[in-house]
Amino acid sequence: MKKHIIVSGDRPTGPLHIGHYIGSLQNRVKLQEEGHTLYIMLADVQALTDNAQNPEKIRENIVQVALDYLAIGINPAKSTIFIQSMIPALPELTIYFLNLVTINRLSRNPTVKTEIQQKKFGESIPAGFFMYPVSQAADIAGFKADLVPVGEDQLPMIEQTNEIVRSFNRFYGPVLVEAKPMIPPMARLPGTDGQAKMSKSLNNAIFLSDSSDQVAKKVRSMYTDPGHVRVADPGKVEGNPVFAYLDVFDPDKTAVTQLKEHYQRGGLADTIVKGRLLEVLEAFLTPIRLRRQEYAANMDYVIDVILQGSHHAATVADTTLQQAKQAMKLDYHRMKK
Ligand code: TRP
Repeated sequence: MKKHIIVSGDRPTGPLHIGHYIGSLQNRVKLQEEGHTLYIMLADVQALTDNAQNPEKIRENIVQVALDYLAIGINPAKSTIFIQSMIPALPELTIYFLNLVTINRLSRNPTVKTEIQQKKFGESIPAGFFMYPVSQAADIAGFKADLVPVGEDQLPMIEQTNEIVRSFNRFYGPVLVEAKPMIPPMARLPGTDGQAKMSKSLNNAIFLSDSSDQVAKKVRSMYTDPGHVRVADPGKVEGNPVFAYLDVFDPDKTAVTQLKEHYQRGGLADTIVKGRLLEVLEAFLTPIRLRRQEYAANMDYVIDVILQGSHHAATVADTTLQQAKQAMKLDYHRMKK
């Protein structure tokens, strides 16, 4: 089997939720267990591109997100967890990569376009935010990753990375590697309110770190079919996030099919379906909570994991940087014969 090099990561601006888990965390654990080489990035530099005035938020979330990674089963003996800002090769690669992409190309990135609207930047788009896909290209190419587990909103970033990699190799020689995205079958989990996307800022997320009580409260107030007024009424399964979650988290597919049929026929109360969902979510979250508690009891160890991971990642990315600089004729230490 071909061993892949894998880079993935998240902006540490809040705790990770079950949407992150379905989008890419699950695939990371799977790839780790298959023996591939994983680099998992706490993307604080990217987080700063739209949080320049809020460094405290990132500082607080770095350790929380690291705990999320450990809690879902990322094993520091197998995978490298690291902090983006501790890898000096990445911003240096970014500067060189910026010459290989046009302003026009950057302004067409659909994910960045959507974010610019969501964040209401108007005419005041930070330049760092605008060009973060180039920085992300450095994150990926800096490790010569050939596989990137992500949610579907990240596809434009992989495309941009590969365009830069191809330009680089064409101009300077074959140093960098193109990457393939790895997208799960259900790349996007709706929010508890039925909106298409789960996110902390939309206040519709179930976090991996939520307590049983918090999860129960969120499930109880979940959006369902607004036309399902009386228990006897037929209900809609499409656009109903309770069933979307059951599809993903309930291991008993036959039971889910039966629940759906009953709901559509009428006579099945939302409270019953939600009860089932709560059971299923608790079964999923309980081992994650337990592992989190174990690690959280030894925070010095957790901090060592990310500092040592960062040290290792820095050497790996520096090797790529030196090869890139040699290809770009920037290896001046070799000038003297
Ligand atoms: N853009 C990603 C997000 O918003 C985070 C990220 C930064 C990332 N660098 C990466 C993901 C490299 C995969 C690979 O979630």
